[in-house]
Amino acid sequence: MSIPSTMRALRQTSLDGPRDLRLVTDAPVPSPGPGEVLIRVTAAGVNFVDISQSRGTFANGPRPPYLAGIEGAGEVVAVGEGVTGLEPGAHVIGVGVQGGAFAEYMPLFAAGAVPVPPGWTDEQALGLVVNLPTALAALRPLGGVAEGRAVLIHAAAGGTGQAAVKMAKHYGATVIATASPDKHEVVRALGADHVLDSRGGDIAAEVLALTDGAGVDLTLESVGGAAFDASLAATKRVTGRVVVFGLAGGEAAISNWDLVYKHQVQIIGLNIGALIQAVPQVFGEVMEELFELFGAGVLGPGEPTAHDLAEGPKVLAELEARSTVGKLALLP
Ligand SMILES: NC(=O)c1ccc[n+]([C@@H]2O[C@H](COP(=O)([O-])OP(=O)(O)OC[C@H]3O[C@@H](n4cnc5c(N)ncnc54)[C@H](OP(=O)(O)O)[C@@H]3O)[C@@H](O)[C@H]2O)c1
Repeated sequence: MSIPSTMRALRQTSLDGPRDLRLVTDAPVPSPGPGEVLIRVTAAGVNFVDISQSRGTFANGPRPPYLAGIEGAGEVVAVGEGVTGLEPGAHVIGVGVQGGAFAEYMPLFAAGAVPVPPGWTDEQALGLVVNLPTALAALRPLGGVAEGRAVLIHAAAGGTGQAAVKMAKHYGATVIATASPDKHEVVRALGADHVLDSRGGDIAAEVLALTDGAGVDLTLESVGGAAFDASLAATKRVTGRVVVFGLAGGEAAISNWDLVYKHQVQIIGLNIGALIQAVPQVFGEVMEELFELFGAGVLGPGEPTAHDLAEGPKVLAELEARSTVGKLALLP
């Protein structure tokens, strides 16, 4: 296959958010470096991290101008020096946190590229390396979810949240979910036991009422901002865990005073990239368990809502405005 020298891509030109994401047609096609493969991207996953990067709130994120998008799936078209086990023609999905997935071609580290499961399209594999392992790591090794436990899941209609609801129900938990009101039916259909309004109401009081005043055993905290304090208040004293893995609603402060006198809970930070680097064996176990869930039919091929690459700025603006449901894809 001949590889062109330039390509279509979405370039972020400022840190003022998705409105400064621009379609370009003359981006240089990258060459795979040592240990990398070059893929022809057939589907790119949209993640909330794309918003964080476009706003400059992602730690050590790319500086504009940069090609946006971290999650790409497609066909290997070239392999860099020292790559073994991956040949042109293979279909893989992977992540590059410095961007480049919203483009026709993207380099990926071969060691982190996961084969698209047999029988799946590249598009159906989106979520496999970001949303799903994050949800599972939060629930299992970090959150200790088990039969009979109560779990609070925020952003439950989102790409990560939907997977978390399905998995938590599979492991026998009672799920209390939060979402914007127009998404409640979607979350109920996934099996959530209770769905609360993420845009209003007193989440902590509602969760305490649903758990006889005890609070939940585990909270998946991806919202932050004003919701953070409510999440801590909604979690069971002493044994309850709060896994913090996102801050879609902004930063939130917590002091040692809070932990001693107000919220006696266990707070655990999760960043899936850091987890992969620091405890690769745990990540391996998470991926193994994920594939068991596929085998058992708990999870299946993804069903992202796909848009043309050119619609990226609009799609990201909608994600930021909380008007999207489920996993989103851009097709170059
Ligand atoms: N740490 C990690 O390694 C890691 C990995 C993957 C994802 N994440 C995090 O997980 C979260 C979900 O990611 P995702 O890509 O699957 O996105 P998503 O859930 O599809 O979209 C974000 C959702 O967050 C909710 N939300 C609540 N308050 C918000 C606010 N002030 N602004 C924007 N959204 C708000 C919205 O749902 P409602 O309107 O229904 O409430 C929105 O639809 C994000 O916080 C992301 O950063 C972290």
